[in-house]
Amino acid sequence: MGLKIAVAGKGGSGKTTISVLLAKILSEDGQKVLLVDLDSDPNLANALGVPAGAASPLVHRKELVAERTGSTGEPGGMFLLNPSVVDLIESHALKVTDRVSLLPVGTIESAGEGCFCPQTAFVRALVSKVVLGKDESVILDLEAGLEAFGRAVVEGLDLLLIVVEPGMRSVETAKRILRMLPDLGIRSARIVANKVRPGNLALLARQLSENGLSADIVLAYSDELVARDLDGRSVFDYLDSRFEEEAKAVFGAL
Ligand SMILES: Nc1ncnc2c1ncn2[C@@H]1O[C@H](COP(=O)(O)OP(=O)(O)O)[C@@H](O)[C@H]1O
Ligand SMILES: [Mg+2]
Repeated sequence: MGLKIAVAGKGGSGKTTISVLLAKILSEDGQKVLLVDLDSDPNLANALGVPAGAASPLVHRKELVAERTGSTGEPGGMFLLNPSVVDLIESHALKVTDRVSLLPVGTIESAGEGCFCPQTAFVRALVSKVVLGKDESVILDLEAGLEAFGRAVVEGLDLLLIVVEPGMRSVETAKRILRMLPDLGIRSARIVANKVRPGNLALLARQLSENGLSADIVLAYSDELVARDLDGRSVFDYLDSRFEEEAKAVFGAL
């Protein structure tokens, strides 16, 4: 069955890297996977080896947003709250492999509490209108922090993965995200511990357990991943057998 998955966590914790590795695992299992970049600082394309120029965020295409939402661009002007966008998913997704594609959506930092502009309506419509077939999954690479947790984004999620790296700041972000879940009706949330080294595994396990949490999936710290980012190389074919096994166990349990 297809899954709708979102990857959240503190900035730099590894959301984008992990989104790509999960897409690979699901695609090898026969799924068609749509990776959606919802970060205002988008770099999913880079982690997939897609030239950034080919993946400019849809939300920055003023004429497209205006056409779909009926907005004139005037501040305070009228626009459609629920624009029709399904065809854009098909026409703007970039093929990465036979089964994996990338939809560069981006997001708009809202100017304050309660701000709702045409761009926000456009992004929400794109995320909430992804319809999954039997062997199709979608992975949402979210923006750091909590702003992404509006209803439309998390609606219908099968799995929220919260990436935590060794350190209390990252654990605190995870706790804040988890506190929001009861209101959002998410089926399942799991912790991914990333950048784990033999020397900090015990510390992270303790920091998590003191907060009533535990890591369901572990991705070890890897010099190879650092090197790939330095060279701007794709992480799609990076292999970590423990990560793969634990991710499959989490998917299997859904
Ligand atoms: N397991 C890991 N080991 C070493 N470096 C990692 C690991 N996971 C991610 N990184 C590096 O950490 C940085 C942030 O990762 P990224 O996936 O872009 O995080 P986010 O999307 O949460 O901002 C990148 O330079 C990436 O290469
Ligand atoms: Mg990222």
